[in-house]
Amino acid sequence: MPPLPALTIPLAISTLLAYLNARWSVFYDYLLLSSLVKIVVREKVAERQDRLNLFYVLEKHALSLKTANRPFLVYDGRTWSYKETYDTVLRYGQYFKQNFNIQPKEVVALDFMNSATFIFIWLGLSSIGAFPAFINYNLCGKPLTHCLKVSTARLLVVDEEVRNNVTQEQLAEFSSPAFRDGKGSVDVVFFTPEIENRILEMPAVREDDSVRSSPRARNMSMLIFTSGTTGYPKPAVISLSKLWAGGSFIDGLLSLRTDDRIYTCMPLYHATASILAFCTVLLKGCTIVIGRRFSARNFWKDARAGDATIIQYVGETMRYLLSAPKQIDPVTGQDLDKKHNIRLAYGNGMRPDIWNQVKERFGLETIVEFYTSTEGFSGHWNRSSNSFSAGAIGRNGRISELVLGRTLALVEVDYELEVPRRDPVTGYCRRVPKGEPGELIYALDPSDISMKFQGYYNNSNASNNKILRDVFAKGDAWFRTGDTLRWDTEGRWYFSDRIGDTFRWKSENVSTSEVAETLGNHPAISEANVYGVSLPHHEGRAGCAAIVIETGVVDVPAEILESLAMHVIANLPRFALPLFLRVTAELEKTGNNKQPKHILREQSVDPAKVSPDDRVYWLQGNKYVPFTLQDWQKLSAAQVRL
Ligand SMILES: *[C@@H]1O[C@H](CO)[C@@H](O)[C@H](O)[C@H]1NC(C)=O
Ligand SMILES: *[C@@H]1O[C@H](CO)[C@@H](O)[C@H](O)[C@H]1NC(C)=O
Ligand SMILES: *[C@@H]1O[C@H](CO)[C@@H](O)[C@H](O)[C@H]1NC(C)=O
Ligand SMILES: *[C@@H]1O[C@H](CO)[C@@H](O)[C@H](O)[C@H]1NC(C)=O
Ligand SMILES: *[C@@H]1O[C@H](CO)[C@@H](O)[C@H](O)[C@H]1NC(C)=O
Ligand SMILES: *[C@@H]1O[C@H](CO)[C@@H](O)[C@H](O)[C@H]1NC(C)=O
Repeated sequence: MPPLPALTIPLAISTLLAYLNARWSVFYDYLLLSSLVKIVVREKVAERQDRLNLFYVLEKHALSLKTANRPFLVYDGRTWSYKETYDTVLRYGQYFKQNFNIQPKEVVALDFMNSATFIFIWLGLSSIGAFPAFINYNLCGKPLTHCLKVSTARLLVVDEEVRNNVTQEQLAEFSSPAFRDGKGSVDVVFFTPEIENRILEMPAVREDDSVRSSPRARNMSMLIFTSGTTGYPKPAVISLSKLWAGGSFIDGLLSLRTDDRIYTCMPLYHATASILAFCTVLLKGCTIVIGRRFSARNFWKDARAGDATIIQYVGETMRYLLSAPKQIDPVTGQDLDKKHNIRLAYGNGMRPDIWNQVKERFGLETIVEFYTSTEGFSGHWNRSSNSFSAGAIGRNGRISELVLGRTLALVEVDYELEVPRRDPVTGYCRRVPKGEPGELIYALDPSDISMKFQGYYNNSNASNNKILRDVFAKGDAWFRTGDTLRWDTEGRWYFSDRIGDTFRWKSENVSTSEVAETLGNHPAISEANVYGVSLPHHEGRAGCAAIVIETGVVDVPAEILESLAMHVIANLPRFALPLFLRVTAELEKTGNNKQPKHILREQSVDPAKVSPDDRVYWLQGNKYVPFTLQDWQKLSAAQVRL
């Protein structure tokens, strides 16, 4: 055999790699496995040294010559280096200790908008071994009182800007000695400039290591409230492990550099911004640029001003940015949408229908979409620099499938009872076939649940509801995510729906997010929120889509109604068609830019409940036509069947 010319060897290797990559997804496996290994190693080292508290991470950067002066926080035009932040944090810690006698392991409630102060209070509490409980600043009334009560805090620190969300009656209630189940009242501090000045005059004293001792990775670091579809928000115990794992995971996933600047205006009271942006930055030693709150008008301006290299999104954020008018520099005529140094956007909840539009309009090279939950402890992701992978939230190759296969499963769901379905004979759950949606569950150690799942604070009932036992074998235990996903034969993961959102119609299960995705692909629709509505004399729920039309009008021109009907009929199975369209000028959104469904669902298409500013249309034959009071009366009188 003649010797191979030298040149062909590298070629052969790269061809081989490309082949392996295509066949076995080695690249993704490498990313996945190497970040998993990194997480475990870093965390173990810190655990052994009892240095898991984030305060130590800050301290290390602040006291090292190489990193002390590196920018850490950027907010409202100001920058704090690691060293400056460290000194400030020590003062905050002393303020809480000296003025309120806050003890190690004590919870302090924080009702705060995004700001550098949010971080100072958080880490200040960590510096004295206390735990913050992050309260959603949009709350008022009963839900706010509830969150404060279950947090067990005896101190509530409130952002001056949300002062009006707390009423005089509530203040009186909090100050009653009976408020904390007889254990005394709650002090409330409104964070005024005077308070801030007082704090900055406190001595920068570092407490002894013993107050921060948290020798186990599963130990609590803080409380983050998660809002389910029903009931009040519940405080999820966030372990130290989750901060380390979340932070290192994103670091690996984004191939983060120490000169990266992550811009987030997602609320810090949620895990996405606090863990997956802030902790990531702190662990890496790079820079976070904090936006006060989401605003489609100011997003790019803020990100540019902060010289961001990475941006974070959640839910429908990118869709709102797309529907904002193009920004052109009035002087130079330059396209400002593309004027930035951002190389990557990451987050969760971006629907595939806008994936490529986002990349093109804003000139983003890479989108990293992933899936995690506040209470959960694993993630899936999709890192994509081309359009090949648009829409999948994760991908793993054969190697990691073997590893992951034992730690997670997708199981069949009983959509009526909203729980995994049990086999009538064996009583066990069943894995769904590849490609079918099933609830994602994670394996727990049945004899040591809290190793992976720390549950809700002081609420074992709610915690137990997240745990399934005897799933595939007697005695095993699994964690329920409440989300259905699909895992295809190529190893790709797709989000299907939130259990409870999926509804039944004509004996079929309709995934609201899949229908919303289809609607979102129609050029006239700028936003869609899909849900099922109960109708008089009908079984199950009929599909209804609350939509916002690109032009903002609610009286939709006939040709658009016609093209919408053609579009859904061509792209959805009959049973999944939205039988009703509720056209509205604006859809409600949560602090995290997610779309709540429960109010819309309850209002149904009942003319007495639907806002008179909205218009309802229904599908008659192959056309959407106005749905009138007479139509509703006919439905109610059982004169019409759908
Ligand atoms: C609470 O305050 C914030 C900030 O001012 C505001 O956006 C929000 O709507 C308020 N929430 C309520 C319920 O008033
Ligand atoms: C850490 O966890 C251990 C075991 O679960 C517990 O005994 C200890 O009190 C916890 N420490 C802190 C600071 O939470
Ligand atoms: C990411 O999602 C897109 C959209 O579905 C998909 O085309 C692509 O294959 C995914 N990438 C990976 C690596 O799974
Ligand atoms: C829909 O869900 C129900 C209840 O869980 C189940 O019995 C049925 O088989 C599902 N239907 C389809 C078509 O998947
Ligand atoms: C825990 O919750 C119970 C009610 O479920 C309450 O009585 C108790 O006071 C709470 N514990 C603390 C420390 O607040
Ligand atoms: C928790 O569940 C038990 C048994 O189901 C019940 O007796 C108890 O009242 C529940 N506790 C709370 C705080 O809901």
